[in-house]
Amino acid sequence: MNQKEYIDKNQERFLNELLDWLRIPSISADPAFADDVHRAAAFVADKLKTIGAENVSIEETAGYPIVYADKIVDANKPTVLVYGHYDVQPSVPDELWETPAFEPDIRDGNIYARGACDDKGQVFMHVKAFETMMQTDSLDCNVKFMIEGEEEVGSTNLGIYLRNNIEKLAADVVLVSDTGMIANDIPSIDTGLRGLSYVEVEVTGPNIDLHSGTYGGAVGNPINVLCDMISSLHDENRHITIPGFYDRVDIMSDADRAEMAKTPFSLDAYKAELDVDDVLGEKGYSTIERTGIRPTLDVNGIWGGYTGEGAKTVLPSKAYAKISMRLVPSQTSSEISDMFKNHFESIAPKSVKVKVSLHHGGEPAVTPTDSKAYRAASRAMEATFGKKPIPTRGGGSIPIVALFEEVLGLKTVLMGFGLDSDAIHSPNEKYGIFNFYKGIETIPYFFKYFAEE
Ligand code: BES
Ligand code: MN
Ligand code: MN
Repeated sequence: MNQKEYIDKNQERFLNELLDWLRIPSISADPAFADDVHRAAAFVADKLKTIGAENVSIEETAGYPIVYADKIVDANKPTVLVYGHYDVQPSVPDELWETPAFEPDIRDGNIYARGACDDKGQVFMHVKAFETMMQTDSLDCNVKFMIEGEEEVGSTNLGIYLRNNIEKLAADVVLVSDTGMIANDIPSIDTGLRGLSYVEVEVTGPNIDLHSGTYGGAVGNPINVLCDMISSLHDENRHITIPGFYDRVDIMSDADRAEMAKTPFSLDAYKAELDVDDVLGEKGYSTIERTGIRPTLDVNGIWGGYTGEGAKTVLPSKAYAKISMRLVPSQTSSEISDMFKNHFESIAPKSVKVKVSLHHGGEPAVTPTDSKAYRAASRAMEATFGKKPIPTRGGGSIPIVALFEEVLGLKTVLMGFGLDSDAIHSPNEKYGIFNFYKGIETIPYFFKYFAEE
């Protein structure tokens, strides 16, 4: 039996196994789900063991475990380190899901569930591609799996694990399916990820909530002040005003920008899909550039004062915001976080006190297009999509990718099969059944071509 026949014959079981995995709410951010996160690790470890992976182990860390497994077929053949994550984002707000986040539902060719695309669905393609190669006796490379449970909370313990297991993780390339492509008929490969700085700010005005009639207009309202401060972080061209913020931003050549401008993209379709009349971003850059090669600053959440039913006249004592900055090469997370902190403290009026605390961050990464591994991925997608994939720059972050290079000395290939419309991190996350099977079909070609290159 060849690979295609094996996949066709087992397709229903492949899908059902994924649905079982998706039923486990492995939310790493919320300690209430700790047992489920562990169960999700055990689930994938068990699948890997059943299909012939060796040295399968659930490696404990200070946080959630890392599932390791390998299959060394021939020491002279190249080794592919497959990375992905079994943890998922919280499902809230649950009331906006058409069907419950952890009761996977199949509708119009899609699997609806938290983690369907990010990243269980995409990890599971690798598990089933491995099964297919094993069962059809066609595994052309050595493979090592490293599936973690803390990607959505910053991968701190995986960083430590890498430093402690450099030899064990020795490989020729890291293969990751945790990104997307342009469309099902326009395959693409991400060649960059943005970094991340994430801060939380607390603004304190008077020492207690006050009557807004007695004191309003005379005492600094921390919410009013916080809004002023946040507004001042962008100028009229939507440039970020933090001094030094752009100093280390690598400027793309005009030739590279012209190349990027050829990426298929319809601004009208983009606006229609999001139901917005216009886009908004940094002056002088296209939408693709704004998410691909430029850094950003966004408020992720803002709160304070009275938000309950009806009206309560109050001048609150405190206001808060969570603010993230997406970074591009060669900005660094620690430098940008420090810059933010210094700047934000410096612009606070004397009427309030400001506290800035730093959350986890991550460094940006670019992946080469002139490597054997990129060529293998490109040829693999061409073999199954019938079209050569286009290199694109993704806007998201996978912090560990920069460490693969720094700690393990390994380049990464981001061969993802998701779509922007898959609503990762949002209600009604989905993953196309087409994409799931296409991935399972494409991955063995990567192994084949990588061994040949
Ligand atoms: N898979 C995503 C990253 C991603 C999404 C890359 C879309 C390219 C396109 C990953 O799981 C993720 O969500 N990363 C977080 C960072 C993390 C530190 C919370 C992100 O990008 O917000
Ligand atoms: Mn992911
Ligand atoms: Mn994610």
